Amino acid sequence: MYYRILFVQLFSVIICSQDLGDADVPTFWNQISKRNTNSEEHSDAMKDKIQLKVYYETLCPASIQFFVEQLTPAVKRLGTHLDVHLIPYGHATTTRNDDRYLFRCQHGAQECYCNKIHACAVDVLRNNTHAILFNDCLMQQAPCSSDYKHFRSAIRSCGRTENVHIYDIWQCMNGTRSSDLLKAYGDETHVVKPTYVPYVELDGSSEDQDSILGNLFATVCQKLTPKPPVCLD
Ligand SMILES: *[C@@H]1O[C@H](CO)[C@@H](O)[C@H](O)[C@H]1NC(C)=O
Ligand SMILES: *[C@@H]1O[C@H](CO)[C@@H](O)[C@H](O)[C@H]1NC(C)=O
Repeated sequence: MYYRILFVQLFSVIICSQDLGDADVPTFWNQISKRNTNSEEHSDAMKDKIQLKVYYETLCPASIQFFVEQLTPAVKRLGTHLDVHLIPYGHATTTRNDDRYLFRCQHGAQECYCNKIHACAVDVLRNNTHAILFNDCLMQQAPCSSDYKHFRSAIRSCGRTENVHIYDIWQCMNGTRSSDLLKAYGDETHVVKPTYVPYVELDGSSEDQDSILGNLFATVCQKLTPKPPVCLD
C-alpha cells in the first residue's frame, strides 16, 4: 500500500499528465530501450540531422528536468546535428474573446506567462539553439514560480550571459505577438494531443518515447549515420 502511494506520487511528479486514468504512460524509468527494427535496412543511408519537436510546459517539473538535463546538454554536444522545434504550450487551452486570445495553463497564469517568454525567445532570436540556451538559463536561474522581481532580474542576467537583447523579448511580450505565438503552438499541440508532457517527436515519429526521455543524446546518436565524433567518445 505504502509503495503504491509512493509510486503514484512519483508518477505524478515525473510526468505532467492530463488524465492519469488510462493514459498511455511512458515507462522510461524501466530503462527498457526498444530495438530499432529498421536500423539495418537503413544503415547505409546518410542521416546527419535529426529533427525534434518538444512539447512541454514551463512549470511542469518533468518538462524542466527534461529541458535542463537532457535537451540542453544534447543540443550543446550535437550542435547542427539537431534541429529542435520548441512547443511551449502543454496542457493549456485557448479561447478567443473578441480580438484577444485567452489562455488557461495547467499550472496557472504564471505558466502561461513563462510559456510566452519561451515562445518570444524563439521568435526574436531566430536561432533555436540560441533560444534553448536562453530558456535553459531562465529555467535554472528563476523557476517560473519565482516572484516577478526575481524573474525579471533573471531575464536580464540571462540576457547578458546568453547575449540576448532583452528589449526585443519585452516588446514581444508587450504586444499581441506573444499571444499569437502561443495560439499557434496551441494549434500544433491540439493536433497531436499528447497525454503527458514532455512529449517528443523525433523525425516526425513519437516512437521510442522511453529512450528519448531517458537518454536523448544516446537516442539521437543511435540514429545518426555516419556517427559524428561526439557520438563515439
Ligand atoms: C545559433 O546560436 C548558437 C548559440 O548561440 C551559435 O553557436 C550558432 O552559431 C548560431 N547559428 C547561426 C546560424 O547563427
Ligand atoms: C509596452 O507597452 C507600454 C504601454 O503600451 C509602453 O509604454 C512601453 O513602452 C512598451 N514597452 C516595450 C518594451 O515595448
